Amino acid sequence: MTVTAPAPAVTTPPADQPLLTVDALSVTFGSQQVLRDISLELAAGETLVVLGESGCGKTVLLKTLIGLVSPTTGAIRFEGTSLADLSERELAHLRTRYGFVFQGAALFDSATIAENIAFPLREHTHLTDPEIAEIVSELVAEVGLPQSVLQKKPVQLSGGMRKRAGLARALALDPQLVLYDEPTTGLDPIMSDVINELILRVRQRPQTTSVVVTHDMRTAHKVADRIIMLYPLARLQPEDSQIIFSGTPADLDASTDPRVRQFVEGEAGQRLDELREEQARAAAWHNAAPRDHENSPQGPQEDLP
Ligand SMILES: Nc1ncnc2c1ncn2[C@@H]1O[C@H](COP(=O)(O)OP(=O)(O)OP(=O)(O)O)[C@@H](O)[C@H]1O
Ligand SMILES: [Mg+2]
Repeated sequence: MTVTAPAPAVTTPPADQPLLTVDALSVTFGSQQVLRDISLELAAGETLVVLGESGCGKTVLLKTLIGLVSPTTGAIRFEGTSLADLSERELAHLRTRYGFVFQGAALFDSATIAENIAFPLREHTHLTDPEIAEIVSELVAEVGLPQSVLQKKPVQLSGGMRKRAGLARALALDPQLVLYDEPTTGLDPIMSDVINELILRVRQRPQTTSVVVTHDMRTAHKVADRIIMLYPLARLQPEDSQIIFSGTPADLDASTDPRVRQFVEGEAGQRLDELREEQARAAAWHNAAPRDHENSPQGPQEDLP
């Protein structure tokens, strides 16, 4: 880039200090515990992939890393400082060092792509309009989009283009840590691979650390230095670790844990049986307590495959 956003004061952590530490993290919403006793460290420059089935708490974990969800117990430390010890202002400042690629692209629908990507630069820098326009143009090129998208609204773009625009916005402030929530979900295999290549390209930016939440085994194998797999608490015993796997992509391929194999090989197996049981229970409940919508010809339940 010829014009760079003045990054907020960046300190380089000592070589032996992890960039991010998750220390005995638990998160409970009301009576539902979602995360239990999660501990992990993220080294500067590392790409960590988080796998796990729908509802096991992957998005909640990402949100705690960025301070959008507070730990019920435990702590998140960025370069040794607990997020809980930061004021709202300090936390907002820290977030300028994070890039978050949301599960949907989460673009502002009424703004153009150019305005969307410029948003963090307007909020957090004192760059002039022409400087911002130049950075926006470079970011759009970096994620492989034509300049013609700049004046379009998100609704005029395909899903893959929106994801790339979301990535361009996440990169605007030259983040140290980029968090991706399901970056390839809903995309065809070719577009998924384009996104995987972009994640790899972002990884090559100096000192960029990434956390990628995905269901996509191809993404996991392609981008990960290390993979962890979370498991839904509802199906674990109290003494079980919620991180059921941690290792390299090669370790994942070699794992003999049936829960891991089931996820890796995409077999719904036992889970489908459980869903059928849940469906039967729900149907019994509906029969016992009739509701208006039961008059519809199909009834309230969709059939499982
Ligand atoms: N703010 C919240 N308040 C209450 N419950 C929540 C909240 N956020 C998440 N949950 C619950 O936490 C659980 C985990 O949600 P989460 O979004 O992290 O799942 P996920 O692993 O990302 O799933 P998916 O792969 O479908 O995106 C779900 O049961 C969800 O309903
Ligand atoms: Mg999620």
